[in-house]
Amino acid sequence: MSNTREIATQILTDIYSKFEFFETAVGLNKDYHRLDSRDKAFIKLIIFNTLRRNGQIQRVINNLVKKPLKRKDLFIHNLLRISICQILFLDIKEYSIVNTAVEISKVYKKEKFVNGLLRNVCRNKFDIRKSIINEPNIPNWIRNDLLSFSGKKTLMNIAETVLKEPFLDIKIKRDHCKKKDWVKILKGKFISHDVIRVKNEGPIEKKPYFNKGIWWIQSISSTLPVRFIESIFNETKSSEVSILDVGAAPGGKTFQLLEKGFKVTSLEISDRRIRRLKENLNRLNYNTKIISGDFLSFRSNELFDCILLDAPCTASGLIQKKPEILIKDKSQSLKKLIQKQKKMLHKSVGLIKQGGYILYCVCSIHSNEGIKIIENFLKKNKNFELIELDKKISTLGKTLKKGMLLITPDDRKIQGGLDGFFIAVIRKIKSYD
Ligand SMILES: C[S@@+](CC[C@H](N)C(=O)[O-])C[C@H]1O[C@@H](n2cnc3c(N)ncnc32)[C@H](O)[C@@H]1O
Repeated sequence: MSNTREIATQILTDIYSKFEFFETAVGLNKDYHRLDSRDKAFIKLIIFNTLRRNGQIQRVINNLVKKPLKRKDLFIHNLLRISICQILFLDIKEYSIVNTAVEISKVYKKEKFVNGLLRNVCRNKFDIRKSIINEPNIPNWIRNDLLSFSGKKTLMNIAETVLKEPFLDIKIKRDHCKKKDWVKILKGKFISHDVIRVKNEGPIEKKPYFNKGIWWIQSISSTLPVRFIESIFNETKSSEVSILDVGAAPGGKTFQLLEKGFKVTSLEISDRRIRRLKENLNRLNYNTKIISGDFLSFRSNELFDCILLDAPCTASGLIQKKPEILIKDKSQSLKKLIQKQKKMLHKSVGLIKQGGYILYCVCSIHSNEGIKIIENFLKKNKNFELIELDKKISTLGKTLKKGMLLITPDDRKIQGGLDGFFIAVIRKIKSYD
């Protein structure tokens, strides 16, 4: 393949059928690697916009085809998707979009169909755009939960945020924050005392001071769990507080815990992710005890003061950064993940000291992975209680109940959108019998 739009269609087809994320799909696409940086940027632009507008584009296709497209026609379906996205939402010359799509579709003997449909879209562009513009591009498995749990306004605000280019948050080591003019060096803006927000462009490894190990990538939302832990133990010497970081890789929260000087054990099931954790630790010049294995079969003679349970989840909170999530139906994996989250939380019970804490968090905005997990746990474990979250830290998001914070991507307190996150802190009651 040599045509850029054809390569884009193939990559989108791979995301639909095989891979979770754009990076994996392009990583394995030889044609993509032969392109120059301009063409690569063009592919990213059209694919990400197509993913973000998936719901609206699908509505256009449904209205214009007589019979739904078959699974075997996925490539042509995606060719239509990227072409409609360019016609309706990107300021690109229509004739070149249509002519190229027709050329590409000839191999599949679909040129008449593609030509007719795309010309129809061009002719009625303004009416079509008007008819779909208020359709939120949020898949049903997230949409229905948002509607019943957070309401239509939040759903629409999230849908609007998802259309915007996300920023990149960089967590700077605290003792380096004031040593350099990071605003100038990284061309960003401090959004908390140690997190700077920059434009998400170019390779991360090429950013200044990457190899010096002074900063790492971590969204501001995901820095909050460890900040709550710091606040809980602010009267205790950090080196005497033992923390088990469960699901530790690639390591953002482990690094924060190490930065503060806690006694950290980092547990992770995935070997591939442990390799990334080790690379990061090496670069940052940090050291932690790593345990490779499944938390559900983890045994320890030692009880911990705190367990940070960053549980595997649908990642529905990351839809602005990872619009690939918008095209997947995760309703089945959601069910499995809920079971896993429940089991992991239950497993934590036997590993903490009396009076110790569990900080449960997920990068999901789905209530079944957040508030409902905690409510279910508390019903079954009467010797646990939610504890009040430090108000100085819970400035983002909304406190659902005492001890539970939900950050949704549309949160306006910081410009540019946020990663969605759910955080809860519970304590094992000391004197319970
Ligand atoms: C949300 S990610 C963690 C992100 C990480 N805490 C950070 O801050 O960079 C969840 C992690 O849990 C790991 N995981 C999933 N199931 C696990 C299990 N049964 N035992 C240990 N780790 C598990 C996944 O491999 C994944 O790395």
